[in-house]
Amino acid sequence: MTDSSPDDVLDDLINPTSMDGGSPGQDGPILEVENLTTAFATPAGPLTAVDDVSFTLRRGQALGIVGESGSGKSVTARSIMRLLPKSNVFTSGRVVMDGIDMMSLNDKQLRDIWGPEVAMVFQDPLGSLNPVMRIGQQVAEGLRVHHGVSKREARATALSLLQSVGIPSPEVRIDDYPHQLSGGMRQRVVIAIALACGPKLLIADEPTTALDVTVQAQILDLLQDQQRERFMPLILITHDLGVVAGRTDEVIVMYAGRIMERAPTQVLFRDMKMPYTEALFRSIPKVEYPSHTKLAIIPGRPPNMIEPPKGCKFADRCRYAQEQCREEEPELTPAMDTDHVYRCFYPVGSAEGNEALARNMETGRLTADGELTGVS
Ligand SMILES: Nc1ncnc2c1ncn2[C@@H]1O[C@H](COP(=O)(O)OP(=O)(O)O)[C@@H](O)[C@H]1O
Ligand code: SF4
Ligand SMILES: [Mg+2]
Repeated sequence: MTDSSPDDVLDDLINPTSMDGGSPGQDGPILEVENLTTAFATPAGPLTAVDDVSFTLRRGQALGIVGESGSGKSVTARSIMRLLPKSNVFTSGRVVMDGIDMMSLNDKQLRDIWGPEVAMVFQDPLGSLNPVMRIGQQVAEGLRVHHGVSKREARATALSLLQSVGIPSPEVRIDDYPHQLSGGMRQRVVIAIALACGPKLLIADEPTTALDVTVQAQILDLLQDQQRERFMPLILITHDLGVVAGRTDEVIVMYAGRIMERAPTQVLFRDMKMPYTEALFRSIPKVEYPSHTKLAIIPGRPPNMIEPPKGCKFADRCRYAQEQCREEEPELTPAMDTDHVYRCFYPVGSAEGNEALARNMETGRLTADGELTGVS
């Protein structure tokens, strides 16, 4: 690589495989997750944070994972990355990333794939950066470690990367330390670091939650632009259903460690089936520029995951819930639309769902406006 220009290096990273369909597996899924289950040993007993989660991600696809705080989004991402502490964690299931069986990798093999295969952007940019290292060096580090490029070349590529993530005057900023940048700029640097090795999958876990409202949309736009430009699969994790609209191809809605609904994004917004998805939708802040820092507020609280209730895990907070919901847990069921699955006995918009709402109004479980009583 030593003879190539920084832009060539960047091009290679942006297009790690040729786009002519010539490389093997180009059309296959980049990520396959099957029956992923992760439990923590806690003093009060085992806590199942992720329960039997299965999905696939195609090349170039942007997937949103949405759910309230504590629904298992981060643990799902960390289980896929194998980024969980070793003690007191039990993970089972199958995770295959670009043909690599993630569950079989040892520590050294994991270090080799973090960066070139899969990279992650976290909520807090300051926590992700080394406070005593110049940002240019931090962006260049992965290139030096994983691609063996020279120091000079890595710096030049870091400069191009800083420019591509929208750092103004990157030739000056490249020698800044993290504390000299604003929160939004720091997150841009974190994204540049994540992109540096041309990952085949990027996972962004609440990437804008810690940022000012004014810069949140800019960072989401940057991620979307990079995802499209690089034809890079992206998993965008957020508690705000509003964030994934228009930015993802497909959405998984999680609750109590489970997939509650999964659908192509437009189908989900047009024809959501799950009362939980509807409750998240109703809680999207209704202002022109939604505040992504505001947590979704659905009356009631998620269940205790050490001793979860027997039936549907959302029953206590569900406007549609009936007796059956407390007895049995619904399975993931396909809807009429392709690729749309959900788990509910009384889906939104169905005759059964409307009857359930009417019955709950009659019994006083719902107000005349359709709001839950006795849950706050
Ligand atoms: N290290 C841990 N030990 C015990 N429980 C944990 C640990 N990390 C996460 N959990 C629990 O796992 C569940 C899912 O957490 P998480 O995936 O972080 O939620 P989310 O990202 O959706 O907010 C929560 O109930 C949380 O308390
Ligand atoms: S199964 Fe019952 S409690 Fe669960 S979401 Fe559907 S209606 Fe609500
Ligand atoms: Mg989280």
